[in-house]
Amino acid sequence: MITSQFNNVLAALAGAERIFDMMDQPPENDGGRTTLARVDNADEWVWKKSDGETVPLRGDVRFHNVDFAYEPGKPVLHQVSLYAKPGQVIAFVGSTGAGKTTITNLINRFYDVQTGSITYDGIDVRDIRKESLRRSLGMVLQDTHLFTGTVLDNIRYGRLDASDEECIEAARQASAHSFISRLPEGYHTVISGDGANLSQGQRQLLAIARAYVADPPVMILDEATSSIDTRTERLVERGVQALMRGRTVFIIAHRLSTVRNANAIIVLEHGQIIERGNHEQLLAQKGRYYQLYTGKNQLE
Ligand SMILES: Nc1ncnc2c1ncn2[C@@H]1O[C@H](COP(=O)(O)OP(=O)(O)OP(=O)(O)O)[C@@H](O)[C@H]1O
Ligand SMILES: [Mg+2]
Repeated sequence: MITSQFNNVLAALAGAERIFDMMDQPPENDGGRTTLARVDNADEWVWKKSDGETVPLRGDVRFHNVDFAYEPGKPVLHQVSLYAKPGQVIAFVGSTGAGKTTITNLINRFYDVQTGSITYDGIDVRDIRKESLRRSLGMVLQDTHLFTGTVLDNIRYGRLDASDEECIEAARQASAHSFISRLPEGYHTVISGDGANLSQGQRQLLAIARAYVADPPVMILDEATSSIDTRTERLVERGVQALMRGRTVFIIAHRLSTVRNANAIIVLEHGQIIERGNHEQLLAQKGRYYQLYTGKNQLE
């Protein structure tokens, strides 16, 4: 699916600080010369290269022998290669510190690759202006940052020109509508910046609704690990499933239910891909994934 309605989008970034961080980047300084542009009179988006050539926005993401270190001499990723075709769901599993979040940090250019490359629709991401890149990516991260304002405004943050109806529809799709309806003032309930008057699961549901309203072709989901009540958990699961449909998705999954249906599961250890395949293939292999799967019902 190529996304619709991208005007004035500040992609569904989960954190306000990151928005400001991104706005602070002087565009001429981030190395990117390719920008996202809307095709006149059409609901289509293209990458516009510095030489004027245009490439359709599709959501094809590939890693080519990527090595990365946050600090010199301390490599975190080694020779990571992977290929996400538009619409595919790629799940990452592996122990804590394995490098899962680091992989997503490179896709959105929070950090730049040092060796190897990442291409997005065939373009090296380092050549894409950060602001354009992040507009094409949605993120639902472990901690959802909300700002002080109404529920509706917090959802609209995904796309600033979205109408009330569009925000409410997004909340329905995200399975957030029922809890919002039960709030004292419904969609007009003011939530505090730290989201203290909402449960963690409810904050996640808002983050999903926010991403839904932005409607980006590529989604990065970093599932929260802390436990939420079973009912909300089920809603989050349903919301995530709905959000994934028709997009390229990178999901750092802690729930087996999400992993099972992924097109490809990538098992990382110490920054290296040690296994890859779908659920059945990896189980048959009886390796690390099998161990994680049969050991307990939660991946970590
Ligand atoms: N900003 C940073 N600066 C320096 N080192 C970092 C930074 N972020 C992560 N690391 C290191 O990189 C390695 C990979 O971390 P990463 O966050 O990618 O792991 P992860 O697989 O996402 O783990 P978890 O399941 O706990 O979220 C770890 O050794 C971590 O300490
Ligand atoms: Mg992580």
